[in-house]
Amino acid sequence: MATSLKGKDVIRIQDFSVEEVNMVMENAARFATMLEKNDRLTNMAGKVLATLFYEPSTRTRLSFETAMLRLGGQVVSVAEAKTSSSAAKGETLFDTGKMIESYSDVAVIRHPIVGSAAELASGSGAPVINGGDGAGQHPTQALLDLYTILIEKGKVKDLTVALAGDLKNGRTVHSLSALLSRFGFRFYFVAPDALKMPAEITENLKKQKVEIVETPDCAKALADSDVVYMTRIQKERFEDPADYERLKGSYELDLKLVKKAKKGLTIMHPLPRVTEIAKDVDSYEGTAYFRQAANGVPVRMALLALVTGLE
Ligand code: NCD
Repeated sequence: MATSLKGKDVIRIQDFSVEEVNMVMENAARFATMLEKNDRLTNMAGKVLATLFYEPSTRTRLSFETAMLRLGGQVVSVAEAKTSSSAAKGETLFDTGKMIESYSDVAVIRHPIVGSAAELASGSGAPVINGGDGAGQHPTQALLDLYTILIEKGKVKDLTVALAGDLKNGRTVHSLSALLSRFGFRFYFVAPDALKMPAEITENLKKQKVEIVETPDCAKALADSDVVYMTRIQKERFEDPADYERLKGSYELDLKLVKKAKKGLTIMHPLPRVTEIAKDVDSYEGTAYFRQAANGVPVRMALLALVTGLE
């Protein structure tokens, strides 16, 4: 039977087979070409996307909504879900899921609590997409990151990637390490001791024979990496503001450091950046973070179309 993602929730990146990931990549490339040609698309005509964002977002929300509109569909959303939805009255996400299935064909949720997207999905017959659940996962970001590497490098084989910054609290790197490991990537996990990748994730990858070097030394990792993926220190996840103050300046990638890195280094970041990438890096030719953000639209078009029934 041919692979189909129809009706599938997108909660954890591990729930995707390599075949399903490839299907998303192929359809994203197809939609990117159509966007370039300014084609008028109607794949999602008559369909409704619901967006529920209980945490701040610029790219994830705008690119999902843009993706839906570019496919000819429509969007309903709760602007400040935390305060203006019935969550403020004590409604559970399971019950909210019941509403999702009666009002819309697919939903995207971002929420501060790990497992929240799964809870919404348990109440909804319509597919639910995790747009970030606390320090848990961000699977659609990982898919657009892989797509970006594919475009920037022209391949996904035989590559070393350095994931740097807040690996403890950063949901993007939790999903991305799991995804890239399936394609044979080697890793540097670059973080200060207090922000190391959770041991559970590292051990799990090592069990699958994934090559990982853990180091706090960014320059050392860059000398041997094809791609660096910088991340923001996740201020909102710190219990003690003093810890954040101590760790916030852990890394600052500037042009001086980039010049010492392996030739052809591709620089990525899920954004928003704070101080971890200096402005002078923007003009470097391997800087991909703005192109990466743009890739969110075709990748999310592919996801929306596939989970709602594109064969
Ligand atoms: C990331 C997130 O929300 O996890 N942003 C995004 O979706 N592009 C990264 C971050 O907030 O640091």
